[in-house]
Amino acid sequence: MEEKYLWWQKEIIYQIYPRSFQDSNNDGVGDLQGIMNRLDYLQELGIKIIWISPIYPSPMADFGYDISDYEDIAPVFGNMNDFDALIKEIHKREMKLILDLVPNHTSDRHPWFIESRSSRDNPKRNWYIWKDAREGGSVPNNWMAAFGGSAWEWDAQTEQYYYHAFLKEQPDLNWRNPEVQEAMLNMMRFWLNKGVDGFRIDVMWHMIKDEQFRDNPVNPDYQNHMPTCDMVFQVYSTDQPEVHAIVNKMRQLMDTYSERMMIGEIYLPINKLISYYGTSDSKGAHLPFNFQLLMLQWDVRKIALAITEYEGSLPAEGWPNWVLGNHDQVRIASRIGKDQARIAAMLLLTLRGTPTIYYGEELGMRDVPIPFEEVLDPQGLNMPDKNLSRDPARTPMQWDNSVNSGFTTAKPWLRLHRNYRSHNVESERMDKTSMLSLYKELIALRQSEASLLYGHYIPVYTDQQMIAYIRHAEGNDRFLVILNFTHKPCYFKSPHEIYNGTIVLSSSPDLVGQSMHYAIALYGDEGVIIRLEN
Ligand code: NOJ
Repeated sequence: MEEKYLWWQKEIIYQIYPRSFQDSNNDGVGDLQGIMNRLDYLQELGIKIIWISPIYPSPMADFGYDISDYEDIAPVFGNMNDFDALIKEIHKREMKLILDLVPNHTSDRHPWFIESRSSRDNPKRNWYIWKDAREGGSVPNNWMAAFGGSAWEWDAQTEQYYYHAFLKEQPDLNWRNPEVQEAMLNMMRFWLNKGVDGFRIDVMWHMIKDEQFRDNPVNPDYQNHMPTCDMVFQVYSTDQPEVHAIVNKMRQLMDTYSERMMIGEIYLPINKLISYYGTSDSKGAHLPFNFQLLMLQWDVRKIALAITEYEGSLPAEGWPNWVLGNHDQVRIASRIGKDQARIAAMLLLTLRGTPTIYYGEELGMRDVPIPFEEVLDPQGLNMPDKNLSRDPARTPMQWDNSVNSGFTTAKPWLRLHRNYRSHNVESERMDKTSMLSLYKELIALRQSEASLLYGHYIPVYTDQQMIAYIRHAEGNDRFLVILNFTHKPCYFKSPHEIYNGTIVLSSSPDLVGQSMHYAIALYGDEGVIIRLEN
């Protein structure tokens, strides 16, 4: 049965934020050669798929998510030779490479935008979204930018506003323009021809906006601590029905190559998210990112419900996926604490579908408080009183106990966690109780058991403390997973049939090998994976 599953269904995705993974030329910023130097580590961990956040030339107003040239490499990360060497080496190791693609917007220094803003009759004018002021000179509508303030920026020279869903340095492209579509598909061809195995498409649900640019509904529950974009609901500025035709064009292009895949970054509730898989007539993304585990409160009943709802909503051919963190979110160990982060790891790696690991998650890396005067993230800088900076989750990878944890010998672009001398790859490698050891065991088990890779998800029991479920692929061993989401002990009893088996993996390594008959008592923050006897 394994044959019908593709690499992106079997293997685990590992997200590398390239600035922070490994510096090889000692300028304080990670680079492609650095990633190359650390491929052994990823293999040791059991990772086969790497997704690298943007590496293209960029003024770095949003650290690479503002691209000024889609077909080159930013000098800070290396050059095209480094890229070619990296992809060659990745493929030599039978690994895969996913690039981050940012089609919704460019940098304001991209030549297309420079042309577009040069005059109202420039041929590229309609490549971006330009609108007249409302009477009295005010902005065309009430749409808000994710990084603070209105989403409209006035251009004094041509006397129109342009739209930017993020920074004013990130003008949105006009995806209703066929020339834009063609240019972007050509850019995708460029990388596919280089052998890139897939793309993670930035803000996929933003790509098309309401044709009439109607005002978004006002959020009556807005409070001051929230990002300013939450003043309105993004009803007309995102998730428009026409976006699916665009996604389908991208998919059709991907399908002309062999076994390439596309992930969509989409923050939407499950019922809307699943539409990004497309339909059998008009296919969409292979994996619309499922962010339930990072959006929901860490409450076992809410999470159990979300798992069931997601499982029940997936289209017949839709392959699930799960994520605990990324470069935009508080790290899981900071959000739920280091003990529950172990339970989260067990959940991530035993649910049905492709897991994505954010670099350092496997070490239990935590957010690092960045002093105010060192904040670099525009989201933090533009809304300084709201504690929204994403820098804390982007600090350098903790490799060893040498200066700057082996990340760089120069001054790192962001400070490291002060615990790096004791919490790092080297120290955790030696420690059987470390997060790294837990991740390695989970990955090894998942990758060797058909039931965990492809088996059904069968809910068994949930209460206010724990979740229990079975993973089972016909003809293979069944696994019962029981996870305690609280710090208090809990007691599991077989609810219907009698479960007997042996613990093959646990958040507490000393439990491995013990047998379970019908019931089991778990300590707080404890989880077990049991190979059932029949
Ligand atoms: C989503 C990316 O993950 C985030 O880092 C970025 O700032 C925005 N898109 C804008 O590109």
